[in-house]
Parts: sequence; structure tokens; C-alpha cells
Amino acid sequence: MAGLSVNGERLWQSLMTMAEIGATAAGGVNRQTLTDEDRRGRDLFREWCEAAGLSVSVDRMGSMFARRQGKDERRPPVLLGSHLDSQPTGGKFDGALGVLGALEVIRTLNDHGIETQAPLEVVNWTNEEGCRFPPAMIASGVFAGVFDLDYGLSRKDHAGNTIGEELQGIGYAGERPVGHRPVGALFELHIEQGPILEAEGRRIGIVTGGQGTRWYDCEVTGAETHAGPSPMEVRRDALRAGAALLEEIYQIAHRHAPDGRATVGEFQAYPGSRNTVPGRVRFTVDLRHPDGGTMDAMDHALREVFERARGRHAGRIDCQVEEIWYAPPVAFDPDCIDAVRQAAAALRLSAREIISGAGHDAVYMARVVPTAMIFVPCKDGISHAEVEYASPEACADGANVLLHAVLARANA
Ligand code: GLV
Ligand code: MN
Ligand code: MN
Repeated sequence: MAGLSVNGERLWQSLMTMAEIGATAAGGVNRQTLTDEDRRGRDLFREWCEAAGLSVSVDRMGSMFARRQGKDERRPPVLLGSHLDSQPTGGKFDGALGVLGALEVIRTLNDHGIETQAPLEVVNWTNEEGCRFPPAMIASGVFAGVFDLDYGLSRKDHAGNTIGEELQGIGYAGERPVGHRPVGALFELHIEQGPILEAEGRRIGIVTGGQGTRWYDCEVTGAETHAGPSPMEVRRDALRAGAALLEEIYQIAHRHAPDGRATVGEFQAYPGSRNTVPGRVRFTVDLRHPDGGTMDAMDHALREVFERARGRHAGRIDCQVEEIWYAPPVAFDPDCIDAVRQAAAALRLSAREIISGAGHDAVYMARVVPTAMIFVPCKDGISHAEVEYASPEACADGANVLLHAVLARANA
């Protein structure tokens, strides 16, 4: 089986066809979770899986599992996959490469009539991105027992819709219990979403773990008043006070350079009228670092920023921060990492070990299942953007490593 390789052309065609669903004018994808676009993406994925002879089941969080029987059906399945949901201005590859690369592995095994000892399941996790329904990786989190099912189904979007309602709405509220079954291993193929592989000219990232992520909801409250008659000194301008916090927040990441990250991705002022002084702002903070202790220090520093601000404003403006999610740093399984390393070496693809900067379903699954990830380079390290791009060669490289890592594990 050493010379076995995927059909890179077919994988590319599948990626481009999937990217037509939710395609944006600027060449990206808006296929946010549990929207009609997500439903269409899921339907297409299901159709392709069934055409490849897989049996598809859906769990109560809407995650899809497409199973290929093993020679020994008593063995727990090897899972391979990622997510089909996207950011609002996302790209064609984040998540889709992992799902369709996994499907390409199955199609390749079918082409060559190869059976595996353990069954294989291609998975499409619900709501990896978390942009519509925070937090991210919620369905894999429920699978791994990090969250309970009620918590998962009750998460709300900005309009107040819950995951449970929206799953019903798109017809993907499955019946299968979430998790509570043995899984032999999990492999997730993904674009790197950072600049390291491309800069070093490496074709494969052997992912050894993922950094920590903390999400916060922040609110600054002052008072609305007229933009003209109200003197500057008497205003309780929530936007001005909130904006003054931003640089202090970014400095938390700089103080933990080079790995610290701080992002304010949402910022809304109310009532949002040009001639009314804003009485309230809400914004989000995303902090990241690969080290758990440093994550705690950054969390502490953020709370101090808000405490100092409350002191400065002496009761006239209130500044509140609430942590809504923490996914601690995680280390992947040495044997699964080794399966990726061996596969890259056998394929003579230059590789290096790397830590994931982004969150992935593999991060939660690693708590309960031996797990590893495979990265391939993406152009300029950019993702969560419509210009996101990975070459057909890079996609095929990643799928080939996935193929051989999965074969090794499923036949061990
Ligand atoms: C998931 O895409 C993340 O925010 O890392
Ligand atoms: Mn992703
Ligand atoms: Mn993403």
C-alpha cells in the first residue's frame, strides 16, 4: 500500500463544488452553521457519502458520521473529518479540507478495493466556528463530555435562536446520542491558518497540540445624551471609555510575545446614532497562548484592565468583563502524532512539528480519544478571510498523509 495515493483532482473538484454553496462575491464562503447554506452543504456531503457506500447518521447535536464498515466490526471506528461551517467572510478550505479530504480517503480505498480492520467514520462536526453560536467546537465538546447536551442545544445566536431550534429548522436534529461510544482514534486534516509552513517551504505540519483560547463578553455602560448641547466634561460616553480599553487589551498579548494573542472581533455601540452619545458598548475579547499558566496570567491581566477602568470612572461609567469559554492548551496523542510523522516520511514530504494556533474539534476530542492533526500550508498564512487559499498540491499532500496515517491506525 506504500504507493497508494488519493485522487488530487477529484479532491480539488469536491472542494470547489462545496465552495459554491455560500459563495461570496469576493471568492470566499459564508456558510455559517445551521443556516440554509449549511443545510445545503450538509445535503451535498450526505449525497457524496452515500454514493461512496457510506451509511450516514446524525447525532442530537447535528454532527454527521458517515461509516465505512471494517473487517472487524467489533473494533471502535477511526474518525477522520472536520467541519463544513464557515466564518461570515470565510474561505473555501477551513474545515472543508478536513471533511472532503477524509471523503477522498474513502473514495481512494473504494477505488482500490481496500478494506480496513477497524471501521472508518468521516465526521462533519456542527458549529466548529462558534461565530454564530458561541462557544466554538460545541458539538465535539458535547461528544467529549466537556459540555452537557442541554448546554449545547441551548446556545443562542444574536437573534436569540437556539442551536436546538435551528437544527430542527434545517432538518438535522438527529436522534443518535452524542458521544458515549468508543472511538479508536481521530485524525483531522486542516490548513495551517498561520505562516510557518509556507515560510519554511515545508509541505506538512505534524500537529503536536493546540494552544489555549479564552473568550469574553465585555460591556461598558455610561449614559446617552445629545451630541450637540452636552459639554464634553459632563458626558458618560461608553464608546470613548470602551475604546480606551482596547490598547490596554492588546498590550496583554504583547507582554506575552511572541505567542500571546488578543483580538477584539466584535464591537457594537448603542443606540448607534451619529448624533447621540453612546450609552453602552459591547465587545468580545479572544485571548490565546500555548501555555496554561500564561493563559491564566493573561486572564488576570484582563480583569485588572477592567478593574482599573472602573476605578478611573468612579461610578460614572461601568466596565464589566465576563469569561464565557475556556479551552485550555492540549497535547495530542504520541502514537497518533507518530502515525502522521511516519506517513509524511514515507511519502517523502518535508515536515515539521507545529502547535495549532486555531481551535479545532480535535482539541476537545483529544481529551477522550487518541488524536492528532495534519496541517498543510495556506497562502500567506491567511484564513478566516475570503482570500484564504491552499494549492491543489497542498490539499492532496494533506489527504495523502491522512490516508496513510488512518490506514496504519485502522490496521494496527
Ligand atoms: C476556530 O476557528 C478558532 O477560533 O480558532
Ligand atoms: Mn477550522
Ligand atoms: Mn475557522
